[in-house]
Amino acid sequence: MPTVTELPQLALWQERINQALIHWLPAEQIIPQGLHQAMRYAVLNGGKRVRPILAYATGQALDIPLDRIDPAACAVELIHAYSLVHDDLPAMDDDDLRRGVPTCHKKFDEATAILCGDALQALAFHVLSHGLDTQIPAEQRLLMLDNLALASGSRGMAGGQAIDLASVGKQLTEAELENMHIHKTGALIRTSVKLAALCATPVDPEKLDNLDQYAKCIGLAFQIQDDILDEIGHTETLGKAHGADRQKNKPTYPSILGLAPSRQLTRELCDDALAQLRGFDAKADALRQIAHYIVERTH
Ligand code: IPE
Ligand code: IPE
Ligand code: MG
Ligand code: MG
Ligand code: MG
Repeated sequence: MPTVTELPQLALWQERINQALIHWLPAEQIIPQGLHQAMRYAVLNGGKRVRPILAYATGQALDIPLDRIDPAACAVELIHAYSLVHDDLPAMDDDDLRRGVPTCHKKFDEATAILCGDALQALAFHVLSHGLDTQIPAEQRLLMLDNLALASGSRGMAGGQAIDLASVGKQLTEAELENMHIHKTGALIRTSVKLAALCATPVDPEKLDNLDQYAKCIGLAFQIQDDILDEIGHTETLGKAHGADRQKNKPTYPSILGLAPSRQLTRELCDDALAQLRGFDAKADALRQIAHYIVERTH
């Protein structure tokens, strides 16, 4: 399976989001310089940009001009980058390597990394509230802000992270594991698609529902594949320490279900996601490509 950058359309969107993020992040010279350096370091260090790419692919599927999607794509990536900075902190996963370079608290210090996460989260909401096209009705824009808030908070990503930390050393049931994954990772992936779909004028409720179900499936598949790669991947390819979950006694899909059933499950989730796109034409091909990519990726 090619990497994101080998799929031409997706590589273009990767470049597009990098430019948009460069634009929104405060320059390093602006006081407080250390914090702004850390923010740029944590964001502009080569993530795969799967969430923004999903937002652009959703825009393409719905015929929405891509410049309308930019603020939503930026906002979800900023929340994601913040979640990684905090996820790596000593009080959480205590990791030293991220995206092939030292984690934010290793490169700077712990207090800076905490503030960096705080500031990236706030910046996400600034970008969304200031950047969105005013052609999108105000109620729809408000709904987007609310959707991002819910997906990021205790009923979404942060809640999932709390469950993750409380589960160390525990034997979860498959249902509990699924609940943890759809929150800690699924919620942000789902909101990437939702925010983009809410940039349509008018919104088609049936398509919105299909896309939401698609995103729910690939969001879960994404974290299962992350668990699989933690087990079988290589540190150099992953850009983060391989075997970290096992070392920290984290319940994962491979540790609870086994490797082959976990893989099988990602394939089924991919099929379920694709089934949701049945009513969409060739403009949804990028979404189809991403579903395959998510379950076949090697980093
Ligand atoms: C890693 O996310 C953390 C999870 C939510 C599984 P990604 O695999 O998208 O990480 P980057 O952004 O490409 O570094
Ligand atoms: C991360 O899950 C989920 C979030 C950052 C919200 P992991 O802890 O498995 O992610 P990695 O493996 O460190 O990237
Ligand atoms: Mg974690
Ligand atoms: Mg981690
Ligand atoms: Mg992981």
